[in-house]
Amino acid sequence: MNSFTTEILHWYYNNKKNFPWRNTKNPYKIWVSEIMLQQTQVKTVIPFYNKWLKNFPTIYDVANSSDEDLFKSWEGLGYYNRANNFRKACVQVISSYDGHIPKNKEDLIMLKGIGEYTSSAIASIAFNKPNHVVDGNVKRIMTRVLCLPDTSKESLKKINIFLAKHIDQKHPGDFNQALMDLGREICKPKKPL
Ligand code: ADE
Repeated sequence: MNSFTTEILHWYYNNKKNFPWRNTKNPYKIWVSEIMLQQTQVKTVIPFYNKWLKNFPTIYDVANSSDEDLFKSWEGLGYYNRANNFRKACVQVISSYDGHIPKNKEDLIMLKGIGEYTSSAIASIAFNKPNHVVDGNVKRIMTRVLCLPDTSKESLKKINIFLAKHIDQKHPGDFNQALMDLGREICKPKKPL
């Protein structure tokens, strides 16, 4: 393991935030968290996440939910199309995968509401697949680490090559979540700590 990987993981294991979706390997629960976190900050998501899992403990509960129950549980998070797409994706998992959430990024990304970032997040966190995530936080960290002048196509290519090479093969979910926490807590856009 090279030093970037070691140091990122070391930092994470000493500073990791104890979010409720980090106490589980249940792919459904991780999926719920990643959909909620798409457009909403972690602090806001936590109470909604806990309530959601009480109301909808399995994908079957989501797939069979009424509009009223679905939107009532989502109320306050905004971007309601996320809830609608999530229900459609749960129906897809039941009909195409006999209720088992697919383990690969390539299959996950075919589900409604799951894009590039979320498919990598779920594959790495729930299934230990070595798919790295790239969002605004990760771009900011990596342009600073690699001394890139911008986030042009060429810079993004370098970032992707670097992360594909350096993601921890045994703990890819921890590696990705380390970058998420580092970007949010330390490597801030202004006045990085
Ligand atoms: N943002 C998106 N996914 C996240 C996760 N798993 N933990 C913290 N922040 C996130």
